[in-house]
Amino acid sequence: MSFVGQSFLSVENLNSQQLKLLFDRAKLFKSEFAKRRSIDHLIKNRPKSPKLLAMVFLEPSTRTRISFQTAAYRLGLESFVFDSATTTSLSKGETQSDTLKNIAAMLPDLLILRYGNSAEVETTIPHLNCPVINAGSGITEHPTQALLDAFTIQEALGNLKGKKVLIVGDVAHSRVANSNLRLLSHLGAKVAACGPEYMLPKTEAWKRINHFADLNEAAGWCDVLMGLRVQTERHGEKSEAFVLAEYRDKYQVTEQHLKIMGPGGLLMHPGPVIHGVEFSPEVLRSRQCLVLTQVTNGVFVRAALYTLMLGLEVESN
Ligand code: CP
Repeated sequence: MSFVGQSFLSVENLNSQQLKLLFDRAKLFKSEFAKRRSIDHLIKNRPKSPKLLAMVFLEPSTRTRISFQTAAYRLGLESFVFDSATTTSLSKGETQSDTLKNIAAMLPDLLILRYGNSAEVETTIPHLNCPVINAGSGITEHPTQALLDAFTIQEALGNLKGKKVLIVGDVAHSRVANSNLRLLSHLGAKVAACGPEYMLPKTEAWKRINHFADLNEAAGWCDVLMGLRVQTERHGEKSEAFVLAEYRDKYQVTEQHLKIMGPGGLLMHPGPVIHGVEFSPEVLRSRQCLVLTQVTNGVFVRAALYTLMLGLEVESN
């Protein structure tokens, strides 16, 4: 299946051939950038007028928004950003749905969209007249984060088949965890979860996988430990201080867990990291910690996705 003209909303429908194409292209972009500090010269069929990308961020973002923008700049694509509820007509009562319809009516070539748990937005997306990339939707999906995570593990370990990936923490509120469970399982990795009972999802997909209550035991099982931000804003009645203190005591990843994992064990986190909660400071400084490598790889993975969705052909050497 071609990527051209299709929206990219979930990792669910990606097949192995598409994933290989995407990861090979991201790898090429990364190695070319390391040699020449540029990748735009690799495009073979550049259109006379640059493609235009609309970046619509209805929820806050640092990494994802700037990564999508950086990937666009590196390929010589044009973009504009809509990301503020205070300086736009959202503040005058315009709905998110009408906002999207109006931006799509300006005929961008792709619309990159982050949004919250909004049925109104979900029902609008299929009716927009341009392909959409999901840049994180509520607690359901963050497909490009999963792509860059899988790419990073593959780059570090060579292959995902049989690798054990432990997702630690607030899995119930994590779109990253949902997309990663789907994608990493598809690529042959074994996924398990670890965290307090109330942070583990009750959905069928998560019930089928192994859950650890004890972080020492879980660290001894895994090749890769992926932390998640504790999303206190989605925890309802429990106080933020209580949730964080209780979490830190039992589930903060420390040097002790790195020792249990051994020197080959890898640490990941999609960010933002809440300092002193999910990971200790020493762990964040460890050479086993790939958090910033994930961010670098995100630019090349998103650049690869743009070229495939826009039908831009790339020189292979
Ligand atoms: N990883 C991630 O989605 O980070 P941001 O929320 O800062 O984009």
